[in-house]
Amino acid sequence: MIQPEMALPKAELHLHIEGTMEPDLVFRLARRNDVPLRFASPEALAGAYRFTSLQSFLDIYYENMAVLRQAEDFTELADDYLRRAREQGVRHAEIFFDPQAHRSRGVSAQALMTGLGESLSKSLDRFGISTGLILCFLRDQGGEAAMECLREFLPYRDQLLGVGLDSAEVGHPPSDFRAVFEVARAEGLHLVAHAGEEGPPEYVWQALDLLGVERIDHGVRCLEDPDLVRRLRDEAVPLTLCPLSNLRLKVFDSWEQFPLRRMLAENLVVSINSDDPAYFGGYVGDNYAAASRHAGLDPAAARRVAAASFEASFIDPARRADCLAELAAFG
Ligand code: ADE
Ligand code: ZN
Repeated sequence: MIQPEMALPKAELHLHIEGTMEPDLVFRLARRNDVPLRFASPEALAGAYRFTSLQSFLDIYYENMAVLRQAEDFTELADDYLRRAREQGVRHAEIFFDPQAHRSRGVSAQALMTGLGESLSKSLDRFGISTGLILCFLRDQGGEAAMECLREFLPYRDQLLGVGLDSAEVGHPPSDFRAVFEVARAEGLHLVAHAGEEGPPEYVWQALDLLGVERIDHGVRCLEDPDLVRRLRDEAVPLTLCPLSNLRLKVFDSWEQFPLRRMLAENLVVSINSDDPAYFGGYVGDNYAAASRHAGLDPAAARRVAAASFEASFIDPARRADCLAELAAFG
């Protein structure tokens, strides 16, 4: 029997496409593109996925990206994700990508957008998943590099749903990115940002007040600031939680500390997502299943979270209504 957490129709709003590259695909692409790896096998690579912090993960995440070279590599990566996402109940996915992380290898904006576009333009027909792309700026490369990146991708504006902010958080506050988010807003792009994952509640305030974001990615450290919790609740700002990620990256030392129950009791708008599923031990349905086993996500709460995932999405309104109707009829 398929577990109910898997079959439950849901949207995925926090998913880095590069974080879906399974060890087998790393090796396949390395062979195809003649890229040397320092591990002998996919199993040996997977054995190195023991993280102590966000940075310890980012180091190997960026290292593995060396195998992504050509447009068709990105098509294969996205196709593999969509196939798995369908099995996990995903009906709509808003997918992050990190163009600045591919620039050093000479991967052009055209190769990236052609490769991802080839997969995503067919996602609804092939997998029953509507999709959108969110271009993320690497916050550790600073505001000027982010602006340069945005300008490089503006010719592909029509293929973008929005912009986001990711990578090493502490020491790289949202305030560094005011100008680039202003340009993105003027272009009519949706705005999101990682904040309050490892960084302090102050970064969540800044993302809201200085960048004007519509959703906060992670945001779990908001609970340290009661005024911030009130603000998030009063304005119904969606938070995209990633339970397995937070446990694997030691944002929380144990499931007892993962604050899903508390956030639901505070009436915050939360969704459950997978972040970088190839690294953290599961895709989005696995995150729902883990939260139900370890963090108090009962069936009614799972439905509430799944409904919030569609409501917090930037989906076409008619498609949202269809997805919510399917969810209401589920089970
Ligand atoms: N890039 C990929 N996954 C990330 C995460 N969890 N936090 C910040 N940047 C990321
Ligand atoms: Zn993330």
